[in-house]
Amino acid sequence: MNFFGHFPGTRHRRLRTHDWMRDMVQETRLHPSDLILPLFIRLPESPADIASMPGVRRWTIAELPQIIEQTIDAGIPAIGLFPFTPQELKTADGMEALNPENLICQAIRAIKEMTPELGIIADVALDPYTSHGHDGVWNGKYIDNDVSLDQLAKQSLVQADAGADIIAPSDMMDGRVGAIRKALDANHFQDRAILSYAAKYASAFYGPFREAVGAVKLPGQDGRPVGDKKTYQMNPANAEEALREAALDLQEGADMVMVKPGLPYLDIIARIRQTFSVPVFAYQVSGEYSMIKAAAAQGWIHEQDAMEESLIALKRAGTTGIFTYAALEVAKRLRNF
Ligand code: PBG
Repeated sequence: MNFFGHFPGTRHRRLRTHDWMRDMVQETRLHPSDLILPLFIRLPESPADIASMPGVRRWTIAELPQIIEQTIDAGIPAIGLFPFTPQELKTADGMEALNPENLICQAIRAIKEMTPELGIIADVALDPYTSHGHDGVWNGKYIDNDVSLDQLAKQSLVQADAGADIIAPSDMMDGRVGAIRKALDANHFQDRAILSYAAKYASAFYGPFREAVGAVKLPGQDGRPVGDKKTYQMNPANAEEALREAALDLQEGADMVMVKPGLPYLDIIARIRQTFSVPVFAYQVSGEYSMIKAAAAQGWIHEQDAMEESLIALKRAGTTGIFTYAALEVAKRLRNF
């Protein structure tokens, strides 16, 4: 047997001897510019706290300067915005999404006025605005794909007009990227990018987010309460389908794609990254965030280490950037080192 290439000639622990050495041979790094902070926006009369998401709150437009300033100082390049819409504004077709004075549009304008250098990513989907909690238009029996497309394209225009830099459709209707690209280009918004949630799974990890945006409990087919989005979001068991989803979105004009949730779907991130040469984002979703917070609150895991390990794993798998509710705390910690 050869001495080299085998123990004892080869000892992997040699390169793990010192802090500086481990640092020197580190393959992947997390940087504040990798992080995107999602923010929830509310009216002054709506509650700020989100019980299922410790450390996350809803912000009024007047309160935004506090958090935006910290975000810029931490070196975070962009934020994502989600509204907490009052119940009385919710309808079956989610018309409030098209109101140029809705919470999101007001927030976009306020932030752009304050800090034009901060990127704004606007989520496109109807669930924060619908009386049934679905991402598309409910016709009484099912989510009508093609009727929803029209609504989503208009929602994109309203957000682009308010100043959103990146339009991020999270609705999972077929054909929405093409419909949005066409609408944007026809209205002189050819410079606005599309980040499509290409592989978005029907996940149990979205629970806390639905509380955060006050989404209504989901009705099912024939009015049966099934409470899921399985007719449009992907089956967690499928990987090949994620490649088909990404391919179609890119063909329709997506500039970047997203995989969501994050940590349970590292294989999907890696395969999309290897198959297509476009930026790939991951969303560490609310349930992933809250699990870490909850376990840490019990003293069962180290909160910051667990959070950073999750995020570096997403980078190692091939992500270009990560949406995380912990963006600010993680970026601040990275800056202090
Ligand atoms: C809905 C949307 C969801 C999230 C982002 N956009 C929830 C859903 O699909 O029900 C989830 C984000 C999270 O859980 O943090 N368009």
